[in-house]
Amino acid sequence: MAVRRAVAGDLEALHAMRDALVQAAPARRRSAWRKALEGSGYGAWVAEVDGEPAGFIDLIVCSDVSHGGKIGLVNGPAVDERFRGRGLGENLLREAVRHCEEQDVIELHVWRDHDNAWAIGLFEKVGFVDRVLPLERPM
Ligand SMILES: CC(C)(COP(=O)(O)OP(=O)(O)OC[C@H]1O[C@@H](n2cnc3c(N)ncnc32)[C@H](O)[C@@H]1OP(=O)(O)O)[C@@H](O)C(=O)NCCC(=O)NCCS
Repeated sequence: MAVRRAVAGDLEALHAMRDALVQAAPARRRSAWRKALEGSGYGAWVAEVDGEPAGFIDLIVCSDVSHGGKIGLVNGPAVDERFRGRGLGENLLREAVRHCEEQDVIELHVWRDHDNAWAIGLFEKVGFVDRVLPLERPM
């Protein structure tokens, strides 16, 4: 298993994994994907198993007036159901956290449905508390 930055050509393989979370027409998703990749605060990663895309995570880093710094928002990670339970989701989320630490992000947020036990277990395992992960940063 390996985690790498996502590239434009990954969309077709990721379409089904995105659909597991929320459905969108391919044309709309293509357009949103292109715009997202152009955004300076956007990051996306793919987990591969034997060279096959098997998991995905993305995030947005933006400036937060309240904190006087940057905050991050992780979008729903998703792992192809054939590969769940093997640590891919955890590795993707840790990669997202690492990226935010490198970017001096002060606070990292996630969202999930209140009854999504898998996502709750994943986020808690990586250290999220009440949907917020305070990152250490010199003041
Ligand atoms: C949530 C999801 C991304 C987890 O990915 P994964 O690769 O299966 O998770 P991992 O193998 O890395 O497991 C990490 C932790 O997640 C939790 N977890 C994963 N699968 C679980 C399951 N079936 N039941 C309960 N907890 C589970 C556990 O806490 C696990 O830690 P552990 O192995 O020490 O018990 C995956 O289940 C998924 O794609 N679900 C559908 C999409 C979704 O709901 N995404 C989240 C939107 S916010």
